[in-house]
Amino acid sequence: MDLGIAGKTALVCGASKGLGYGCAEALVREGVNVLIVARGAEALAEAAKKLEAVASGPSKPFVKHVAADITTPEGRAAVFALQKDFDIVVTNAGGPPPGDFRDWDREAWIKAVDANMLTPIELIKATVDGMAARGFGRIVNITSSSVKAPIDILGLSNGARSGLTGFVAGVARTPVAAKGVTINNLLPGSFDTDRLKGTMAGAAKKSGQDLDAVMESRKKTIPARRFGTPAEFGAICAFLCSVQAGYVTGQNVLADGGAYPGTY
Ligand SMILES: NC(=O)c1ccc[n+]([C@@H]2O[C@H](COP(=O)([O-])OP(=O)(O)OC[C@H]3O[C@@H](n4cnc5c(N)ncnc54)[C@H](OP(=O)(O)O)[C@@H]3O)[C@@H](O)[C@H]2O)c1
Repeated sequence: MDLGIAGKTALVCGASKGLGYGCAEALVREGVNVLIVARGAEALAEAAKKLEAVASGPSKPFVKHVAADITTPEGRAAVFALQKDFDIVVTNAGGPPPGDFRDWDREAWIKAVDANMLTPIELIKATVDGMAARGFGRIVNITSSSVKAPIDILGLSNGARSGLTGFVAGVARTPVAAKGVTINNLLPGSFDTDRLKGTMAGAAKKSGQDLDAVMESRKKTIPARRFGTPAEFGAICAFLCSVQAGYVTGQNVLADGGAYPGTY
């Protein structure tokens, strides 16, 4: 299916690896120009090189990259200094650390809310009116399945991302919806990325189990009996950014191999 977005320009955050990279690659394959962001300059430059290799066709899309912390005003300013207008924005940053809520002070909460709630809101604020004025826009926020099924040790994530989810439900239905702009959240369950491996390694250490054993027992809790891949995640993101998905807005799209046990 031709997604109808060749020649559009996307900002993809947290895109040197993992789910963000998967989204960037899927968009580049559709002929979308991308600006990718992550803090680590070396890995980001490598990712940009890989995306350049994927970009092809008569109107080969451009791949720009900027090493910046997207959760800071300076980081966001660096992005917009390089490219002002975007047709597509994929918001993403690292998730907050796991732990016990008794140990989290105000600073820990502010950091989580800054990264996983206020940063996407700032990026929406900076881009949505331009999209509406041009008559096309797609915003996809990478959140988490924990929004639907909270994970006890990820309280910082459950809380901050729920705040974003509530905000998006409102803003997606404002008059920008009639101007061709959709805003959706894409909720990963368990995807095979460094983040997942890090979380599993933490769980293995805590329980004294072998990492492979922890990974295998997690897979058994997923009806698909496997972890998802960044490429699968990217393909869903690209579809949400497509012309065909123009009537889908304000939604929380779960990709979790069937792990969430509810009917709705
Ligand atoms: N993988 C899963 O199964 C899963 C499940 C539920 C939710 N999630 C959430 O989905 C998001 C992506 O996860 P992932 O698995 O793809 O993680 P990952 O493999 O660790 O990749 C994270 C990417 O984001 C970048 N990044 C992190 N903090 C950033 C910041 N402040 N500014 C700019 N870039 C930043 C990282 O590069 P630098 O470190 O160099 O900046 C890296 O490119 C996270 O919020 C995670 O909590 C993932």
